[in-house]
Amino acid sequence: MSELNKKQRWVVGITGASGSIYGIRLIETLLTANIDVHMVISNAGWRVLHEELGWNSTDREGIVKEKFGSYPGACIYHPVADIGASIASGSFQVEGMIIAPCSMGTLSAVAHGSSSNLMTRAADVMLKEGRPLVLVPRETPLHAIHLENMLKLSRLGVKMIPAMPAFYFQPQSMDDLINFVVGKVLDSIRIDHHLFKRWEG
Ligand SMILES: Cc1cc2nc3c(=O)[nH]c(=O)nc-3n(C[C@H](O)[C@H](O)[C@H](O)COP(=O)(O)O)c2cc1C
Repeated sequence: MSELNKKQRWVVGITGASGSIYGIRLIETLLTANIDVHMVISNAGWRVLHEELGWNSTDREGIVKEKFGSYPGACIYHPVADIGASIASGSFQVEGMIIAPCSMGTLSAVAHGSSSNLMTRAADVMLKEGRPLVLVPRETPLHAIHLENMLKLSRLGVKMIPAMPAFYFQPQSMDDLINFVVGKVLDSIRIDHHLFKRWEG
């Protein structure tokens, strides 16, 4: 980011892994903090948003505007097939990218540099430009290919934050569990938040 443009811009991807609420809560928190979000949702991500949160995916731009149109930060929606979007280029300045939740399919595509859609291309741009890339993988059980892909990306500096909420802070609700995972993502990119109470010993 240039000194003239101090407003942060993050890319957030939502894939077809279970836990689309993690991506939604993350976007809400970034927008509330007056951070602009460039959002990309895979086709499977739209399907899971429908299954888990009842989102109607027939008017994708419309629902994004309805859900995210009235925050301090701007939410810019990019169709996953639009490989000509701004975020497909390293010359477009963003702080980094978070994929939450991240499916094993997208994890594999990122680990192998396939760049076959805007989600995996934008992630590839983060890797080639040396920008932060945070993945929130969700699957269970994990087999050796999943684990090898995670190790490969971790060795490249990708932050792996599995959707694994903790219980030592005595969560009282599902919101507490969601906020814990989202809070860990924000910690990893050094964005201040009050999503969970910190352990003080
Ligand atoms: C309701 C539902 C839940 C799913 N949960 C997961 C999951 O937790 N992890 C995962 O890797 N895939 C999960 N999948 C499968 C992925 O959506 C599927 O592999 C898809 O091709 C991933 O595509 P994407 O990476 O482009 O989003 C789920 C699918 C559905 C319909």
